[in-house]
Amino acid sequence: MSSTNYTSLSYSLPFHFNEPSLTFSWIGFTLLAILLSYGAFVILKPDPYAHIPAVGGSGIISAYYTAKKFYSHSHELLDAGYEKYKDRIYRIPDKDRWQIIVSRPDQIEELRKAPDDVLSFKDFVDNTLFIKYLMGRTIVTNEYHVGVVRSQLTKNLSVLFDDLREEIQSAFDDIIPQTDGREPEYLKVNIDFTMSITKSRDRLIHTPVFLRPLVARYLTTVSESVATAAKYLGPVIQERQAKIDEYGQDYPEKPADLLSWLMEDASDEERTVTQLTNRILSLNFAAIHTSSMTFTHTLYHLAAEPHYLQPMREEIESVIAQEGWTKIAMTKMHKLDSFLKESLRYNGIGFGLYFCVPLAPHCLINPTNSVSLTRLALKDFTFTDGTFIPKGTFISAAAQPIHHDEEKYPDSEKFNGFRFANIRTQDGYNTTNQFVNTSPDYISFGHGKHACPGRFFAANELKSMLAYLVLNYDIKMKNEGVRPKNLSVAMSCLPDLSASVMFRRRQL
Ligand code: HEM
Ligand SMILES: *[C@@H]1O[C@H](CO)[C@@H](O)[C@H](O)[C@H]1NC(C)=O
Ligand SMILES: *[C@@H]1O[C@H](CO)[C@@H](O)[C@H](O)[C@H]1NC(C)=O
Ligand SMILES: *[C@@H]1O[C@H](CO)[C@@H](O)[C@H](O)[C@H]1NC(C)=O
Repeated sequence: MSSTNYTSLSYSLPFHFNEPSLTFSWIGFTLLAILLSYGAFVILKPDPYAHIPAVGGSGIISAYYTAKKFYSHSHELLDAGYEKYKDRIYRIPDKDRWQIIVSRPDQIEELRKAPDDVLSFKDFVDNTLFIKYLMGRTIVTNEYHVGVVRSQLTKNLSVLFDDLREEIQSAFDDIIPQTDGREPEYLKVNIDFTMSITKSRDRLIHTPVFLRPLVARYLTTVSESVATAAKYLGPVIQERQAKIDEYGQDYPEKPADLLSWLMEDASDEERTVTQLTNRILSLNFAAIHTSSMTFTHTLYHLAAEPHYLQPMREEIESVIAQEGWTKIAMTKMHKLDSFLKESLRYNGIGFGLYFCVPLAPHCLINPTNSVSLTRLALKDFTFTDGTFIPKGTFISAAAQPIHHDEEKYPDSEKFNGFRFANIRTQDGYNTTNQFVNTSPDYISFGHGKHACPGRFFAANELKSMLAYLVLNYDIKMKNEGVRPKNLSVAMSCLPDLSASVMFRRRQL
């Protein structure tokens, strides 16, 4: 369909207009012609996904309605596709594109094994969050911070354990009942950063590509967040750099923390205060909302069903009696581990990073339950069953339907806090069903080479928090026995934002 057909309309305009309106109509008609030809192009362009079955119909109008429904009913649509096409790849319309959904375990394996230059995780993230405009290109092109999390941070969890525990204790003391006074501005900027990125991305998505760098620079608040955080981190970075310059990388009493490890691995251009601050903020970005939402989902389950408290207390007390408060102890609390894993199965969160409703008050970067392992095809890709995926397509795994599949998780609609602990009593507590393990049947942390590198940290942190909570407080929902409803926004499953949980300090 050639657009010149339509554009030529504007040249055959009658000439009896006087000058101003001539110009006006000429522009008007040209615009109209462009619109018409674009419309025709959209309607007549062969559908590159015609061979892939669509949920809710593939016509323009039916797809439009399905895409609208997707905002608040993504689970239903994903489930419908999963039921109907079970073992086939299917597609769901998102606002401006088709989202390809994969569910079969062997195809999830194919998805995770595909090379990064064919099915790309980072290009998906960058194309969704505009990281390169908001936080600088090197965050995308040089991912050394991922290695720092995967290796140094994870290896040093036992070293960090006492600090973590102290932090948890004082945080609980501050929050229940609420008080302030813990470096509030620095904490706040780390939390606000997520919102800054989200709001900026919503602005950028409506900005023409060529204007994005400009808009990102002048009309978003990301650089202000970085500057605020740099106020706190800058002096620390400079002091450490001075010691490195004087005594070398392994200077005496070097702190064992994320900043030290980032400074060890950073290349020269990454060692500036701004760049290091960027890295810390972006890691906190990946770490904070995921962990806090997982904890909130878990807390709601526990408060709605406080009968889980007693068996967990017994487990914690007996493990602590043997091991003391250590990282090893955390790995031996199987009921706690199971409870968190079940909550993440049931409610889930992944990394779908999709459309956030711009007007939603707590519009977060959708950690999603619905899908995981989202990739952007940088080249054409063909699954071994012959399904052809054209370059430029977004592909995801069907997390929600998989995690609620009766064959994989019997009685899947019931929250069963000790589901995994019970299985583990039969397999000798091997690692298959522990919280951090991923498989094609459990993809809340993704699966394969991009599986969340922070999950060991997260598991250790969440278990320490849960153990502290369970030992020190009685809890219940204000509305007793009722778990607050989840909020389904696009592909996210958010915990209720305003429910009341009652806490009472236990007399020990
Ligand atoms: C319960 C908490 C968490 C959940 C559910 C979670 C989930 C995920 C998921 C689903 C992915 C993408 C995997 C994929 O698509 O294959 C991911 C990636 C990532 N996560 Fe997490 N995460 C959590 C906590 C954390 C924490 C605490 C950190 C940092 C300390 C972290 C750092 C990262 C990073 C850096 C990536 C990108 C990995 C890459 O580029 O290969 N996450 N996470
Ligand atoms: C932290 O991890 C690194 C390995 O990445 C290791 O060399 C170092 O000894 C660890 N620090 C401590 C205090 O164990
Ligand atoms: C959220 O909670 C509801 C019950 O309140 C439950 O049916 C649902 O499975 C949970 N998870 C998701 C993803 O909606
Ligand atoms: C671990 O347990 C799972 C079942 O939970 C089982 O399929 C697997 O074979 C076991 N692995 C080992 C090494 O025992």
